Amino acid sequence: MKRGYFITGTDTGVGKTLIAAALIHGFASAGRRVVGMKPVAAGAEFTDGQWLNEDVLQLRAAANVDAPLASVNPYVFAPPIAPHIAASQAGITISLDRIKAAFADLAELADVVVVEGAGGFLVPLNDRQDMGDLAAELGLPVILVVGMRLGCINHALLTVAAIESRGLSLAGWVANVVDAEMPYLEENLATLRQRIAAPHLGTVPRLADADFRQAANYLQPPL
Ligand SMILES: Nc1ncnc2c1ncn2[C@@H]1O[C@H](COP(=O)(O)OP(=O)(O)O)[C@@H](O)[C@H]1O
Ligand SMILES: [Mg+2]
Repeated sequence: MKRGYFITGTDTGVGKTLIAAALIHGFASAGRRVVGMKPVAAGAEFTDGQWLNEDVLQLRAAANVDAPLASVNPYVFAPPIAPHIAASQAGITISLDRIKAAFADLAELADVVVVEGAGGFLVPLNDRQDMGDLAAELGLPVILVVGMRLGCINHALLTVAAIESRGLSLAGWVANVVDAEMPYLEENLATLRQRIAAPHLGTVPRLADADFRQAANYLQPPL
């Protein structure tokens, strides 16, 4: 069965890309054909005639299916700013239909498509729609990356509520330790486990080298 996951996070910079790449690596190690997708990327360098975003490069490095860049990353903007503002500056309206078509292309090439959102779950994409609408349009189960630092419980529970309010299934959540010095990490994890019904897929510690292969050792992908 063709399927995929939508990776969201409690914020930007919480480890969505690292965890998405680790999940891709996990699926690939389990013998699945897997590809990453970054529907909307803000922040890119012009290299060899193409606009390349760092997240896209990382997702591609973990994948075992080579897919066209236009499908992996249908929207790319140079400045690292809010996507709907970047789009507006570029005179473009982000279309969910175009992203759906690119996803369908990827789903033809792979068994699993791991889609990384941008920022958090309610980041706007255009005047009317946001990242949550995109997850709903794609009809994918969501995996929430919780960046473990002070304030994360509130952000995690707000995000879970938003996911549920869109009628989406939460396939699980991953704790990513962004603050290695976080006091009472275990107590915070216990609180999240108690309040989030979906499975805790793993806790990734602060790694010396943020390598997706290493991060994958701490995850149980929902295979
Ligand atoms: N567990 C970790 N250990 C070490 N570095 C991490 C870890 N998680 C994330 N990072 C680093 O933090 C930064 C933000 O992570 P990233 O996956 O790009 O977040 P997001 O995709 O949510 O913006 C990156 O430089 C990444 O390498
Ligand atoms: Mg990212």
